[in-house]
Amino acid sequence: MSTRGVAVITGGASGIGEATAKRLAADGFAVAIADVNEPAGMAAAAAIGGGARFYACDVADAASVDAAAARVEKEMGPARVLVTSAGIIPNTEGVMDMDMEAHDRMWAVNYKGTVHCARAFARQMIPHKTGAIVTLGSINSRLPLPIPAYNMGKAAIERLTQILAVELGRHGIRVNSVGPTYVMTPPLRARVQSGQRDLNKIMAVHALDRLPEPADIADGIAFLCSEAARSITGVLLPIDAGFLAAVSYRTYAGGMPWKE
Ligand SMILES: NC(=O)c1ccc[n+]([C@@H]2O[C@H](COP(=O)([O-])OP(=O)(O)OC[C@H]3O[C@@H](n4cnc5c(N)ncnc54)[C@H](O)[C@@H]3O)[C@@H](O)[C@H]2O)c1
Repeated sequence: MSTRGVAVITGGASGIGEATAKRLAADGFAVAIADVNEPAGMAAAAAIGGGARFYACDVADAASVDAAAARVEKEMGPARVLVTSAGIIPNTEGVMDMDMEAHDRMWAVNYKGTVHCARAFARQMIPHKTGAIVTLGSINSRLPLPIPAYNMGKAAIERLTQILAVELGRHGIRVNSVGPTYVMTPPLRARVQSGQRDLNKIMAVHALDRLPEPADIADGIAFLCSEAARSITGVLLPIDAGFLAAVSYRTYAGGMPWKE
């Protein structure tokens, strides 16, 4: 029985979004999964049960987002929470030879998709003077990595989150971001398997000897959506097993102050 209102999770058919949908349903939200992948989205909603529903939606297309938002409001009620986890993850490339069509698609889904969803669902929160939005940033929001369109898009999402936090704060809506490091979801697993990402290198640049699971990111998102975070807005919470702290430290030229 959902008592906390409607939580919309874009990209909820897979990975971090799917784990978040599960977690927010367990926390008492009525969950709406908005995703372009209909079979996976339907399966995820069915697995959650308890009134969770799937809405077909391409976040890159503002009209598709607006139509899904209208259906959610009509069938489930106004959004109380929005998590923007829909996104695509690229292969390594340089600015000098990146494919500009792929560049534009990356921005359309990851960045503009976040804008479209924030606009459509914040409109449902404003009359109720309450709401929480969590965007998907990344360690890429903070440091340059050789996946330029994705990297710069994630930096833009952190700034967008701050701007929205100020714009929507007067309506009682909090807007925050999470910044995961590498998380073993289908796109990363495929790239580790194809040799596009080196798991040993990944493991060597974290403070902790573990990578976050999708459920670890969901826990951070659930916190930011909760009453416990009532005074937190405009922040990016790294959930990165210490990547941002360790990446410069571990590459220090004088070696580590312990025996490896
Ligand atoms: N996995 C990681 O290492 C990692 C690290 C940091 C940030 N992130 C971010 O987390 C988010 C989720 O990534 P994930 O690893 O769970 O990936 P995933 O591929 O498992 O899930 C992404 C979901 O988004 C959906 N999607 C893609 N394009 C869409 C569109 N145009 N409209 C609607 N839905 C669309 C996909 O169908 C999929 O269900 C992304 O924003 C990603 O950038 C992931």
